[in-house]
Amino acid sequence: MKILFVSPDPRPERWIQLLESALPDADWVVWHPELPHQDADYALVWQPPEILFKKEPQLKAIFNLGAGVDALLKLSKLPKTLPIYRLEDAGMSAQMAEYLVHQVAEITRVMTIYRQQQQQKVWRMQAPCRRHEWPIGFLGMGQIAQKSAQALALLEYPVASWSRSKKALTGIESYAGEDQLTAFVQRSRILINTLPLTSETHSFLNQRLFDQMPEKSVLINVGRGQHLNEMDLLNALEYGKLSHAVLDVFSEEPLPSSHPFWSHAKITLTPHISAPTLREETVRQITDKLQRIAKREEVSGRVDRERGY
Ligand code: GLV
Repeated sequence: MKILFVSPDPRPERWIQLLESALPDADWVVWHPELPHQDADYALVWQPPEILFKKEPQLKAIFNLGAGVDALLKLSKLPKTLPIYRLEDAGMSAQMAEYLVHQVAEITRVMTIYRQQQQQKVWRMQAPCRRHEWPIGFLGMGQIAQKSAQALALLEYPVASWSRSKKALTGIESYAGEDQLTAFVQRSRILINTLPLTSETHSFLNQRLFDQMPEKSVLINVGRGQHLNEMDLLNALEYGKLSHAVLDVFSEEPLPSSHPFWSHAKITLTPHISAPTLREETVRQITDKLQRIAKREEVSGRVDRERGY
């Protein structure tokens, strides 16, 4: 069995070492566009170039080295029936929960003020956080978001989610479908975007949505940069409802140094690190799936090409 590793990771040998020890019988190849035809069976991919599918049209399945498959599904040479498996959690949900609890607490516990006070050697208690004043809403409630929603609910924030179909999660109010979107947005003072990026969710975070949010709301985007209309966000921060935005994803990554987000006083930004892919967990999950496929067993995490995630 020949398996390609296709990733912009500058040190692929760290992956190959783990992959070889997990599945020593397979022939693991670090692929690059100059390689001749490999006649490989499978490929592990992150943002692969189009030419991979021209050169290796016989691939039986591919494994995405992340949760979001938006970049992959955009490729026109991607064979229509090629099975795609995405990462399922693989250590990402705990990282995401930690990131979101941290960012929420930064805001609700006014940590910026305390940092300024420390610089000025000021000992002063600000008003304590009143959790009922900070209802949190998750746009999207997939595998990775669930732990975050539960963690914030455990901290006694009112938490709700909005998704295509209703979700039965203890302590989390579920809204679903187009007709419940307005009610959901109107109650969410902290709106956290975890939607998959599809043609339906492109530019979902826009002026119309911000207008429906409560006064002094906060937007946290950990989905994809393309979910956000950047001009609408800048306007909403300037004149509108939003008092702050936390952004981990951008339509152009790395974010160009000339971009206004970098130095905006009401924007906290991080370089797409809310829930990075973890090597050990990922290798364990994918090699387990490869073994299951070999035994013709059921394998979870297959992307629904119709739905787009
Ligand atoms: C990261 O953004 C991922 O999709 O896993």
